[in-house]
Amino acid sequence: MTAFHRSDNALVCEGVPLADIAAAEGTPLYVYSAATIATRYRAIDEAFRSYPHALHYALKANSTLAIARLLRSLGAAADANSGGEIDVALRAGFIPEQIVFTGVGKTPAELAQAIDLGVKTINAESEGELERIDRLARERGSRARVALRVNPDIDARSHPHISTGLKTNKFGIALDAVRELAHRFSKADGIEIVGLHIHVGSQITNLDPLRHAAQAIVSLARELRDDGVAIDHLDLGGGLGVSYDGSAVPSAEEYAAALIPIVKASGLAIVLEPGRNIVAPAGALVTRVVDVKNRPDGKVFITLDAGMTELIRPMLYGAFHRIEPVEQTEGAEITADIVGPLCETSDTLGKERRLRRPKAGDLFAVLDAGAYGAVMASNYNRRTMPAEVLVDGDRWTVIRRRQTIDDLLALEL
Ligand code: LLP
Repeated sequence: MTAFHRSDNALVCEGVPLADIAAAEGTPLYVYSAATIATRYRAIDEAFRSYPHALHYALKANSTLAIARLLRSLGAAADANSGGEIDVALRAGFIPEQIVFTGVGKTPAELAQAIDLGVKTINAESEGELERIDRLARERGSRARVALRVNPDIDARSHPHISTGLKTNKFGIALDAVRELAHRFSKADGIEIVGLHIHVGSQITNLDPLRHAAQAIVSLARELRDDGVAIDHLDLGGGLGVSYDGSAVPSAEEYAAALIPIVKASGLAIVLEPGRNIVAPAGALVTRVVDVKNRPDGKVFITLDAGMTELIRPMLYGAFHRIEPVEQTEGAEITADIVGPLCETSDTLGKERRLRRPKAGDLFAVLDAGAYGAVMASNYNRRTMPAEVLVDGDRWTVIRRRQTIDDLLALEL
């Protein structure tokens, strides 16, 4: 069952009509399905059941506390990309040993926080960062567990903004430099090298780049072992894509079948950092039509009360999201640009969509918005952050109340 489906012509999330939630909580509003998150998490976990693995949910995809707690209750560990995400992970109940800390620009304060907590690993991005980790750990009389993030120069064939594995991308340590650094830092008092890390991009829908990335770090792990550097895991990052437009994408089973045979011979445990695949299809942005305006060329603008401040993916990556009326109407078929209320021409959620002409006040749902939606929201134009609701069966709970202008101004002196 998908998170959102039609019942008597109305879109519902699990057992709850979206119109009911919108009537109670107003719009714009994020609605998530707990059952879908659970099903999708378990699908990946099950697919890897034959091999030692740990799923570190990538908090960056959606770190609302209730979502993080839900993932923890399902057995997930956490991938944090900032000190803030480490704090959220702790408040959601993850223990430090369940947290991997990634990120291309970790500050000394963030590194110290991770070392003091004793997180499972810090995924190190550069020689300079390794030096900082070593120094900070020695100053504290401790030893940090570190995985080396490798940049394999592999094209993820995703959108350039979310491809991370090319040598021209800012991420990781170049493949040919890793061996020397591993050697050098395996003797450092402040560092214990426990793993290798790789993440070549996000929204990957062809498994080949993930296979090549896995092959690259498996052979590197073999070389390190020959050099006497003993590691215990390979962190293969996240990246498994979802279908935004209904086209076929690899399943969790296919993903596991692609990776396990490559890693198996090494005997090393697999760490994964899935984000989008678990939460994207579980969320929708519910929004109300503010205006319907005819264009001179016969097309129509549908202006919503949500735009780039609530969901920036279409503007930043040219991303496609299905946009559906919450209740089907009988209006004439039109071609419309579905736009937001912000003072930017780029504030367009959907271009040239064929749909029935709505009227002001109608509700729409922007689908597959559970990942990189609410977490990337902003206050541009002094817009307040939307509320977020988690549906569980026939019940729903507000998990983040709508921000008010007083919340916003409370920070200003
Ligand atoms: N691990 C690392 C080191 C990452 O950089 C990322 C995502 C993940 C895991 C999770 O990847 P996922 O499984 O979600 O693909 N805002 C963009 C996506 C940025 C992804 C950044 N890194 C978007 O809306 O498409």
